[in-house]
Amino acid sequence: MGLRPRILLSTSVFKKQIVAITSIFLVLYIIGHLAGNLLIFAGPEAFNAYAEKLHDLGGLLWVARIVLLAAFVLHVYFTIKLAQENRKAGLGRYAVANPKGDWPFARRTMIYTGLLVFFFFFVHLNDFTFADAEGEHSVVMTSNGEANLGLYGLVWNSFLDPFRAVFYVLAVFATGFHLSHGVQSLFQSLGLDHPRYTPTIRRLSVIIGAIVAVGFALIPVYVIIRHLITGVGA
Ligand code: HEM
Repeated sequence: MGLRPRILLSTSVFKKQIVAITSIFLVLYIIGHLAGNLLIFAGPEAFNAYAEKLHDLGGLLWVARIVLLAAFVLHVYFTIKLAQENRKAGLGRYAVANPKGDWPFARRTMIYTGLLVFFFFFVHLNDFTFADAEGEHSVVMTSNGEANLGLYGLVWNSFLDPFRAVFYVLAVFATGFHLSHGVQSLFQSLGLDHPRYTPTIRRLSVIIGAIVAVGFALIPVYVIIRHLITGVGA
């Protein structure tokens, strides 16, 4: 006979599976978001056109946002629950079934990188999603004089503040470290790992983490270097 729903909900296996399933949504979003953001290198038209296309999705965009927010909330909630249970059982913060061959630094810092990403999430929404992308903060010096460059201009001006730029670099590296362990761990939690594929999954996990960290970090670094060298944003 199977477990009754209430018992099932309270098992740590179930909680780990929720953390893993929600991770899939979050990782896919982060990769898609990175791909979109890299359009900043193609200039204001390409970057703003991409953002506009997303906004034009209307209701569909809201469905995606709600799914993502739900995944984020569940991910954080069940991670805290698991950490509490493991601490009670004297297993450390978040026991991992098979840490052999793992990258211990990324595994041991999951809670800290997770906390930084959590904090970053609110700062980030305030910076770009809730900010006015048409106002004075979008006005950038270009080779043809000052121009309002919309969302591109907002991102550009935001990273001219060195504190924000450094905070973003730290936050995206924290995201990368978190994923470098998180992706391989989600395969394990869902029972999708097999000794034969474990090294490949671990490599894939570290590669995804590195791409996310370096890819996002290139954006504030590019803004600052280009500003110092050319003095114009487009
Ligand atoms: C240099 C790094 C980043 C840049 C330049 C950037 C840029 C942006 C911009 C411009 C927006 C607003 C999009 C719009 O209104 O159309 C946005 C929204 C968002 N970003 Fe980022 N982002 C970065 C890193 C990240 C990371 C690492 C995460 C996740 C860990 C993230 C998660 C989000 C979320 C959840 C939203 C809200 C999406 C929505 O409103 O639909 N971003 N980002």
